Amino acid sequence: MKHIKLLISLTACLLAINWSSHASEVIELEAAKGSFKFPFFETETPVWHYNKQIPGPLIRAKQGSKLSVNFTNNLDEPTTIHWHGLRIDNAMDGVPGVTQDPIKPGDSFTYELELSEVGTFWYHPHFNNSEQLERGLKGVLIVDEKEQQPWSSELILFLDDWRLQKDGTIYPHFNTPHDLMHDGRWGNVPTVNGKVKPDLSVRPGERIRVRIINGANARIFLPLLQGLQADVIAVDGRPVTNIFPLEQFYLSPGNRIDLDITIPPNSAGKTFALVDGFPRNSYQLASLTVAEGPALKTPEFTVKTAGDFIPAEMFDDSTVSKTWDLNAFRGGELGIGWGMNQQFWPDADNVDFELGRPQKIVFQNSSARLHPMHIHGVFFRVLERNGKPAVEPFTRDTVLVGPREIVVIGLVPMHKGIWVAHCHILEHAEAGMMTSIGVEEL
Ligand code: C2O
Ligand code: CU
Repeated sequence: MKHIKLLISLTACLLAINWSSHASEVIELEAAKGSFKFPFFETETPVWHYNKQIPGPLIRAKQGSKLSVNFTNNLDEPTTIHWHGLRIDNAMDGVPGVTQDPIKPGDSFTYELELSEVGTFWYHPHFNNSEQLERGLKGVLIVDEKEQQPWSSELILFLDDWRLQKDGTIYPHFNTPHDLMHDGRWGNVPTVNGKVKPDLSVRPGERIRVRIINGANARIFLPLLQGLQADVIAVDGRPVTNIFPLEQFYLSPGNRIDLDITIPPNSAGKTFALVDGFPRNSYQLASLTVAEGPALKTPEFTVKTAGDFIPAEMFDDSTVSKTWDLNAFRGGELGIGWGMNQQFWPDADNVDFELGRPQKIVFQNSSARLHPMHIHGVFFRVLERNGKPAVEPFTRDTVLVGPREIVVIGLVPMHKGIWVAHCHILEHAEAGMMTSIGVEEL
């Protein structure tokens, strides 16, 4: 009974958003081969990119608007585009063999996106992922609130890494036994917005909304803004229920966080570092240098939070509807397969969930590797880690499951269709670590 009531308010909230949709926009997107200049090499690096940009063009629209993306594939191989984190019509989800046929070289496809929820999202191929993303196909998509809060400015930090060879070319072997046996392909050149250690200019007194996206194939980042107080205001696009300070947030491939920071008014001339605290030796990703000059007036406002749409108690009465055991096996096309319940995509059984009914899922990592598990078409709440209640005042679409860890999540499927669930370490997914959930009205 309890969860039925909650559910009605959840449905009402999600529906309310659609009533006011009007604006529609058309954008052209092309995937093609090209080149990109990294700082340390004389020659340009051959890449694959969207609209000749690394990362791809920023796609931005208002909540409630419709976006038609006229996409053309000018690569030499098929591709599709997936809109990571967007809960949209299943036919637009971009999963080859599930929601559409792969788009062949020279062909076009129009993605119609109804942008009902605000947030920081991103887009990338869902075909030959480990190679297509590593070669540069990815970009940010932002859905803005209808009424914007009075931020002084915004910083979008798209984190990535590349495995480059001495001659500046991308290491051309993908899904190697080493990458498969470990945590996927970690590059040797981390970038922020396609730049190596960029220095970004900020002004004293500014209050900035920072959006950080992990677009790497496999690297986990633990972003830290040294010397600055940062509050987490959104996770995986959705505003949090309670704002909390950024301390240790494992930003795994696919994850996004939005932060609220204020540049101290008396800090003109100072530099603050954005570092990655994940490896034993942390390293700098970017820096923020505060311009000289008088301080701006810091805008004062309370950042909007979200209602607790899927509170943990909603799942009290639910039994576990699916347990996925995560582990590797010898064999398969690549020599090493990563399975969910020992099944390898595309030979995996679909699990059926009823529209609107709370579901509890267990990710049981039987391996010693990392698995950032991502589910399309839903957001979920982490309920437990290793048998202890998790305290996360937010929902996600991707959760890092550590070595031998057991993570229990709760979700409420709100959109019909077939949605895949997979490891966002792309090499693991390519080696089979993917399955699907069918959501239907029963
Ligand atoms: Cu970034 Cu299947 O997802
Ligand atoms: Cu994995």
